[in-house]
Amino acid sequence: MNATLENPATFADELAALVSPAAILKRAEPMAKHTTLRVGGPADVYIEPANEKDLSAILKGCRERGVNFFILGRGSNLVVRDGGFRGVVICLASPEFARIEIDGTRIRAGAGAKQKSVAVEAKRNGLSGVEFLEGIPGSIGGALRMNAGAMGSETFNAVESVRVMDYFGVARELKRSEMAVEYRCCAFLKSHIALGAVFQCSPQPREEIEKRMKIYNEKRWRSQPAAPSAGCLFKNPSTIGAGRLIDELGLKNTKIGGARISQEHGNFLVNDGGATAKDVLELIELLRAKVMAERGVELHSEVEVIGEPA
Ligand code: EPU
Repeated sequence: MNATLENPATFADELAALVSPAAILKRAEPMAKHTTLRVGGPADVYIEPANEKDLSAILKGCRERGVNFFILGRGSNLVVRDGGFRGVVICLASPEFARIEIDGTRIRAGAGAKQKSVAVEAKRNGLSGVEFLEGIPGSIGGALRMNAGAMGSETFNAVESVRVMDYFGVARELKRSEMAVEYRCCAFLKSHIALGAVFQCSPQPREEIEKRMKIYNEKRWRSQPAAPSAGCLFKNPSTIGAGRLIDELGLKNTKIGGARISQEHGNFLVNDGGATAKDVLELIELLRAKVMAERGVELHSEVEVIGEPA
C-alpha cells in the first residue's frame, strides 16, 4: 500500500460507513497526542476499530482505494514526522482489543492492552513470567511486534501463541514456534497485525512477584529518564550497550532544538518541551555519525519513523 489519500474527508466518510457506531474516527488527528515523545504532525484519518470485524473492513477499504495505513500501539517506539501521516492510522485501543483474561496459568491479552496492565494482572493472580513488562510504556501489540524486552527478559519468552490478522482482514492463531523471533524484532508482524497473544506463566506467591517488580521498578527509576522519550533509541550492538557507548563518548546532553540525549541514560532521547520530529531525527543522525566516526560501530534504530517532513 503506497498511494496517498487524495480526499481524506471523503475517505473518512466511506470508512465511517464500513465500521460499527462504537468505532472512533477522527480527521487530521495530531500524532503528537499519540506518541510518548510528543512529536508528530496530523494523520489524515485516525481510527479506533471497535472489534476485529471493523478492523477487517478498514483494511479492505484501504486496500480497495490503495490507501496507506499504519497500525499504532501506544506510540512508545515511534517518531511521526512533522508533516504528519498521509493515510489512515489504525489504533487498537478499544475495550475489545484491550481485554486481559486469565485462564489457569495462561493470560490472554489483546493487542491494545497496556504491557503494564498485563504485568499487574499477572501479579494479582499469582502468575510469574511477565514481570518485566511492568515498566515498558507500550501496548501488547507493540511488545509483540518489537519483541520488547527489559530486565534480561523479552516478550516472546512468555508467549505461547499469537492471534494475527493479515492485510486482507483474515484472522488466525499462530503458535510461538511458527514465528521467527529475534532481539527486538518479530519479522512476521511486519506484514501481519498482532491482535493479541496468550502468555504462559507459572504460579508463584504474589509477594515474590511483587518483590521482583519492585526491584525492576527501582532500577528503571534509577537509570532511565522520566521525561517524554521513545524508550531506547538504538538496539544494543553485540559488543557494547548503546547507552554505555554514547555515555563513553561524552554525548549525553547533546541537544538539537527541544530534543536532548538524556543525562540519566545515553540511549534515551528526551523531549525537553517543544521538540519537533525534525530535531529528534537530526539528533539521532548526529549520534549515529559520531559513534561511527569515533568507534566504527553502526547503530541500528529501535524506533520506527513514519510520515512526511513538514
Ligand atoms: N550504562 C552506562 N551509561 C549509560 C547507560 C548505561 O554506563 O548512559 C551502563 C550501565 O551502567 C550498565 C550497562 O550500561 O552497566 C547496561 O545498562 P542498562 O542496564 O540500562 O541496560 P541497557 O542495555 O542500556 C537494556 C534495554 C532497555 C531496558 C534495560 C533494562 C536495549 C536497547 N535496551 O538497556 O530497553 O529497559 O536494558 O533492562 O536492549 C528499550 O528497549 O526501549 C529499553 C529501554
